[in-house]
Amino acid sequence: MSTSSATTVDAKSATSDAGSVEVPATPTQLLIGGEWRDPLSSGPSVTLPVNDPATGGVIADVADAAPDDAEAAVDAAAAAFTSWSSTSPRQRGELLRSAFDLLVAQADEFAAVITREMGKPLDESRAEVRYGAEFLRWYAEEAVRATGTARTAPDGAALHVTIRQPVGPSLLITPWNFPLAMVTRKVAPALAAGCTVVVKPAEETPLTALMFAELLREVGVPPGVVNVLTTSRPGQVVARILADRRIRKLSFTGSTEVGRTLLAASANGVLRTSMELGGNAPFLVFDDADVESAIEGAVTAKLRNGGQSCVAANRFIVDRRVADDFVAGLAERLAAQKIGSGFDPATTLGPMINVKQRDRAIALVRAAVADGATPVLLDAVEAGTAFLPPVLLNDVNPDGAIAKQEIFAPVAPIYLFDSEDEALRLASDTEAGLVGFIYSRDAARLMRAATALECGMVGLNRGLVSDASAPFGGTKHSGLGREGSEAGLHEYLETKYISHPFSAV
Ligand code: SIN
Repeated sequence: MSTSSATTVDAKSATSDAGSVEVPATPTQLLIGGEWRDPLSSGPSVTLPVNDPATGGVIADVADAAPDDAEAAVDAAAAAFTSWSSTSPRQRGELLRSAFDLLVAQADEFAAVITREMGKPLDESRAEVRYGAEFLRWYAEEAVRATGTARTAPDGAALHVTIRQPVGPSLLITPWNFPLAMVTRKVAPALAAGCTVVVKPAEETPLTALMFAELLREVGVPPGVVNVLTTSRPGQVVARILADRRIRKLSFTGSTEVGRTLLAASANGVLRTSMELGGNAPFLVFDDADVESAIEGAVTAKLRNGGQSCVAANRFIVDRRVADDFVAGLAERLAAQKIGSGFDPATTLGPMINVKQRDRAIALVRAAVADGATPVLLDAVEAGTAFLPPVLLNDVNPDGAIAKQEIFAPVAPIYLFDSEDEALRLASDTEAGLVGFIYSRDAARLMRAATALECGMVGLNRGLVSDASAPFGGTKHSGLGREGSEAGLHEYLETKYISHPFSAV
């Protein structure tokens, strides 16, 4: 069965209490070639269940794409590429601007769906909508700035001109932690550059991506430019797409482990890749820091998205001389969190995405305590739910598993240091290199430490660096390429050099 109007689900009727919050219906089918349709081979009865993190209950069933559907999506993206890449940059920019305007107008509806499927408190979902919308506005403006260069050859015999051209049909794989913003961060620059896309959202949070795809349809993005596949078989579906020579680019946000597999799979097609992978962010507090401000930044860097972010502070590396004050203040702030459903206006910390992720974090905490860490906050947890009250551990062993892995949970381990050298050595003692945070009142020390940290982004006296206008990305095992800013547009552009046999001088 195929239909051009979306089959939708009313998530509100199927789930825990959303109070007075209206959770709008979202599409549940695949978007291929501008049409909402069921999977080709399996029919409407084969679906992927989406769960409410707060209750574990099923809130929706979405289409479960198979490899044949992936091929149909690539057909559509490839067919649309010729005309889309020939539209003017201004036209593409104006469509993105319309998408920004409509997203802002529908912010509450999107926020409700994000909270429903991802669990974060409604205020955080609203913040995600604002953050996600900024990528549309930024790339609406950048679409007309894909500039080239012209220079006379050093021997004066030729003119070298460079132009930028879209890479081609692209596969965009997005994670569950920011179900909207990670989609707009990829779709907006891709469309601005003139690329067509196949989006594969995370199995846990497909509804927001489907709703956003419908928004793009509504503002007039032509059929085939954006295609969306939801699937319970990401390995098979993605393998089929990456094996297709018409696909020229892969952008992925997710774990380093999956990123490695995808990089290997991209090698045959020699694909352009952008990889936003795992982090292990150090959060350095020097003895000359404003400790109150460091505590404020620590709460943001740890609890944004319930710690489920690749830029969450993963290791608090604190000068022993200010550690008592920092730990006491942070403990007070973490203990004051109100845990509950994201729809409860009093909630400041929602459930984690699922029980499996929560239990993985608990296992890391138990191992750290067994290894000598001092529990400062460690409440009993209820079995079988995804809720995890904040955990604070002091004087943690820097050689333990919790120091090496991305915790992705509201768990704050403190590591103590006695000298700047020791702090910087601890901070970079990781395969990850995404972000670091530094607190100090000494400008020279801040710049010295920022330069020394082995990572792609640094926050000085602030616990959040994410911004559509800034180049987000990591070094070492945290990834390749940048998203946001003009750099994010260049990820979807090839440079073509044209040599002209005369001199401009
Ligand atoms: C991520 O966790 O993958 C992205 C976080 C951000 O953009 O701030």
